[in-house]
Parts: sequence; structure tokens; C-alpha cells
Amino acid sequence: MANIVSSGQNESRPRGKFITLEGIDGAGKTTHLQWFCDRLSERAALQAARVIVTFEPGGTPLGETLREILLRQEMHSETEALLMFAARREHIATLIEPALTRGDWVLSDRFTDATFAYQGGGLGLSIDKLRVLEQWVQGELQPDCTVLFDLPIDAAHTRRSRARIPDKFESQSDDFFTRTRAEYLRRTAQAPERFAIINAVGPISTVREQLEAILLTL
Ligand code: TYD
Repeated sequence: MANIVSSGQNESRPRGKFITLEGIDGAGKTTHLQWFCDRLSERAALQAARVIVTFEPGGTPLGETLREILLRQEMHSETEALLMFAARREHIATLIEPALTRGDWVLSDRFTDATFAYQGGGLGLSIDKLRVLEQWVQGELQPDCTVLFDLPIDAAHTRRSRARIPDKFESQSDDFFTRTRAEYLRRTAQAPERFAIINAVGPISTVREQLEAILLTL
């Protein structure tokens, strides 16, 4: 479930900022999440806002039930995309949109770019069909900033192989992740104003320096 990490009260706050983190499995997103969240909370506090941290698939009780199914069960690729968007609809309606309207900032570990990258790029689902679902579920809602942790496929593979027992997505082939990464990068080229690309190869300190630079723009 989502949790609130810092607080500030002001009834007349402007609409909050929506920030998402993306990247292929093994890119190191999870390693940096807590640190980034803490720094983002400091940043938000300057504007009397608090940060709500959440994730996809998940972020709501229904979303977490769907996550269990999505990460464990084999299914038709279109069923998978539909469930991702179903979980997202609930997430937007019950958590993301109310928070942004209140003036809170929302930090989501993955959002729609992951569906385009994994189900579109990785599994080869029609991008046009995904766009229809995106429009249906989100309307005009888009993240204000998406941080993409990017690194070569072999480096991500090495990191994944050190990790715990892989879920359905983490055990995909390098070819799958090559297509997934390519779709992420294609999306950054389509919306450069929204994306900040992190070179995730380096040690933690180098990645943090890049994240610091992004924080200054928020
Ligand atoms: P994530 O929670 O980032 O993985 P981790 O368990 O390492 O914290 O994401 C879970 C998996 O779900 C990840 O492999 C990517 C996949 N995914 C999709 O395939 N499509 C989507 O739309 C989303 C949000 C996630």
C-alpha cells in the first residue's frame, strides 16, 4: 500500500506534482527509491506539500490483489495489459488523482510507460491498442516528470541474477529486455520534456548525483 512520508498542511495548495520511476528489471530503481523519496520530500516541503509513495501494479487493495495475479500467473498478453490498466484505473481514481487535487505530490514506482515498454515492447502488443487504453484510463493525466533508469541489457542481467527468486517478468529473456528497453527509449524521444534519463551503470554515488540534478528541476 502507498504510504505518506512527510507532511505539511495547507488547504489552498496548488495541484501536486506527479513523478514516476521507470526502467527495466535490474536497473536499480528499487535501490534508489527510499533515498530519492526522502530528498523529494524535502523538496516538496519547500512548497508545503507532502509526498505519497506508491507503485504499480498495486497501490490500492484491489491493485495489490491484481499484482499477485499479474506477477505469478501466465495469461494472454492482452489480458495482462487489460489487468495492468484495470489496476491503474483504480489507482488513479482512489489514490493518485485525489492526492494531486489535494496538493500532495505522488511518487509512483512505475506507471503507464511500463505497460508500453513491457507489454508493448517486450511482448509485442499493439501500441495503438495500448494508446486506446491509456486514453480511456488516464484522459489527460500524465506524469510531470518520469525518471528512467537506463543501462545496457548485460549489466541489468548481471544484477538480476544476483537478486532473489525472479518473478514472471524478471525471468524473461535478454531479447525481451532489449525490446523493453528500446520501447522505453523510444518513448523518451517522443516526450523529451517529460523524461529525465539516468545512466544507471555507475556506482550509487554517481546515480545519486544525477538524481540530485533532477530534483533541482522539480
Ligand atoms: P516492480 O514492482 O518494479 O518490480 P520489483 O518486484 O522488482 O519491485 O514491477 C513488477 C513487474 O511488473 C516488473 O517486472 C515490470 C512489470 N510491469 C509490467 O510488465 N507492466 C506494467 O504496466 C507495470 C506497471 C509493471
